[in-house]
Amino acid sequence: MVDVILGLQWGDEGKGKIVDYFAPGYDIIARFQGGPNAGHTLYIDGKKMVLHQIPSGIFHPNTVNIIGNGVVLDPVTLKRECAAVAAEGVDVRKNLFIAQRTNIIIPTHRALDKASELSKGESKIGSTLKGIGPAYMDKTGRNALRVGDLLSPDFDKHYKELKKKHQQLLDNFQFSEDISAWETEFFEAIEFLRTLNVINCEYYINDQISAGKKVLAEGAQGSMLDVDFGTFPFVTSSNTISAGVCTGLGIAPSKIKEVLGVTKAYCTRVGGGPFPTELEDATGEELRKIGNEFGATTGRPRRCGWIDLVALRFACMINGVTQVIMTKADVLDSFEELQVCTAYDIDGKTSQEVPFQMNNAPITPLLQAFKGWNMDTSSIKTATELPATMHTYIDFINQSIGAPVKYVSNGPGRDQIVKI
Ligand code: GDP
Ligand code: IMO
Ligand code: MG
Repeated sequence: MVDVILGLQWGDEGKGKIVDYFAPGYDIIARFQGGPNAGHTLYIDGKKMVLHQIPSGIFHPNTVNIIGNGVVLDPVTLKRECAAVAAEGVDVRKNLFIAQRTNIIIPTHRALDKASELSKGESKIGSTLKGIGPAYMDKTGRNALRVGDLLSPDFDKHYKELKKKHQQLLDNFQFSEDISAWETEFFEAIEFLRTLNVINCEYYINDQISAGKKVLAEGAQGSMLDVDFGTFPFVTSSNTISAGVCTGLGIAPSKIKEVLGVTKAYCTRVGGGPFPTELEDATGEELRKIGNEFGATTGRPRRCGWIDLVALRFACMINGVTQVIMTKADVLDSFEELQVCTAYDIDGKTSQEVPFQMNNAPITPLLQAFKGWNMDTSSIKTATELPATMHTYIDFINQSIGAPVKYVSNGPGRDQIVKI
């Protein structure tokens, strides 16, 4: 069977840490969407590692890690990351597999990402500029190069044709950039990619499932960044929700069992777009400082606010979440009072639904106050030791979102997690 771990907010919920924590219980960890826009942080023996392309199970020698067909793969980032994990003793030729249907990000995708963002001016998305949008456009536009094409004698020809198409688009944007250094790195990385294990993922993964092996699908970004259900157009270009597991790995819906949704005990977002519970004041600044809320991929300060139960309930619904993992609870340790958003006020009407377009009308979050726990929780190991005020906070969340909080993460370390 297949279980899924994915983000319920706007990304950076702590998915990397949680996947690393659960990885020993699985045979295979597979990324099913997104690309190097992701930044998943893990602490291995106290050392910080940030993964962008490689699944977060890579530090467990007995798990196979798969980059699935739904991912967009930047060979340069992958090569760099393989070197970083190899330095920690990981043998990527043994436990990293790449689906042959995975789409490749080429240097002009990154240039196009920049050109597109520049052309949007004030209303730019705040993309990580890793070429994600343009690469997925070439997938749905049926132009892309895929990992399996590396074996084709026509690879270079196909590359040149695609680059030419991109050049025309860049000319339309009146955008020019010297990509020659990227290209050199790209072709070096392509040679490296040819030395890795490229597999027919859909057969491999289904054979493994039939043989009784356990698969954990690792999401990137978050549900509110999903291209269909997120805060469009301020979203990423893939299906980040559980449905993406089926198309991103070649797995039937009936194979999916547990969907573990990860949410922070508060909320953050990086980049542009609506964020109803955002705090643009000293409290927001405090959350950013205590939570060290700076992007793992771009280093940008993350926007911070209270937990949004309207958005969370929506995310649990579209994902079929069976268990919730609440991370960064320790970040709230020093707050006297906490707020949770229970409904939206839109144009004077109270709503418990995520509207079609959050930007169409101003949303005022309706907040309910909770007493903070005001104590250091970061070394707590059992649910009974957690403060009663935290249990009250969690119980309210459970009732509101239609899925139970089963784990509370109380620090970035591998062992800082409490089972409820
Ligand atoms: P991801 O993209 O969902 O994997 O999350 P990121 O790695 O981008 O951001 C999460 C950040 O929070 C990382 O720096 C983690 O080390 C850190 N983190 C994860 N869980 C916890 C937690 O429970 N408490 C604290 N204080 N930090 C955490
Ligand atoms: P992880 O997996 C947080 C955001 C960007 C931007 C929008 C589109 O670490 O949670 P893109 O590069 O996809 O064109 O950017 O999505 N974004 C993320 N925000 N965490 C991420 O990944 C993100 N990946 C993309 O900031 O607003
Ligand atoms: Mg991240």
